[in-house]
Amino acid sequence: MKIKKSVFVASFPDPGKCPKTEIPEFAFIGRSNVGKSSLLNYLVNKKSLAKTSSTPGKTRHLNYFLINDSFHFVDLPGYGFARFSKDERKKWEKIITKYIVTRKQLFHLFILVDARLEPQTVDINAINFMGKYQISFSIIFTKADKISKSKLKNNIQNFENRLKETWEILPPYFITSATKKTGKDEILDFIGSLLP
Ligand code: GTP
Ligand code: MG
Repeated sequence: MKIKKSVFVASFPDPGKCPKTEIPEFAFIGRSNVGKSSLLNYLVNKKSLAKTSSTPGKTRHLNYFLINDSFHFVDLPGYGFARFSKDERKKWEKIITKYIVTRKQLFHLFILVDARLEPQTVDINAINFMGKYQISFSIIFTKADKISKSKLKNNIQNFENRLKETWEILPPYFITSATKKTGKDEILDFIGSLLP
């Protein structure tokens, strides 16, 4: 699939206020700073359609983008950033959870995981949560440019081993670098294969 058109729609502070259309949604979640907004820009081939920052906590609302006039990309705030106050973390988690659990238009969720790290409990918990609510999801490893091939392979293997503790069938995964611009075609083809 090719992305020929991408337009920012609007920003919503609460899932209850998101568009009442039937347009299917592909949402991006993951820890703060994992690279959700950067990946989205890379996928649509625009420098700053979604706002990015080196400081975690940049995306604070649900940001909607209309792609090829046929589906939405939804850029969500990040979870699990230790330097947020407890109240703030609770607030974001509540918004993300509400979106995932209540949003009928949610078609597929991409869970972004920092490829440089050993499996993080907060990511494993997020993935297990999807099982509980039977959400269609896949995993995108980000920032692959920042580690060696052998370390990357090792981290993915460790991540899969953690998932095997709870999952019989492992979800699809993709490896990306928004900086080096790798991994896009696989994701777009995957999206194309899911759409009716
Ligand atoms: P929040 O909105 O705060 O939750 O963050 P986010 O997940 O949207 O992350 P964002 O895209 O804003 O990127 C965070 C930082 O990581 C920025 O400094 C990006 O330039 C950097 N970054 C994102 N993707 C990559 C990547 O593939 N490689 C490298 N080296 N840096 C990246
Ligand atoms: Mg962001």
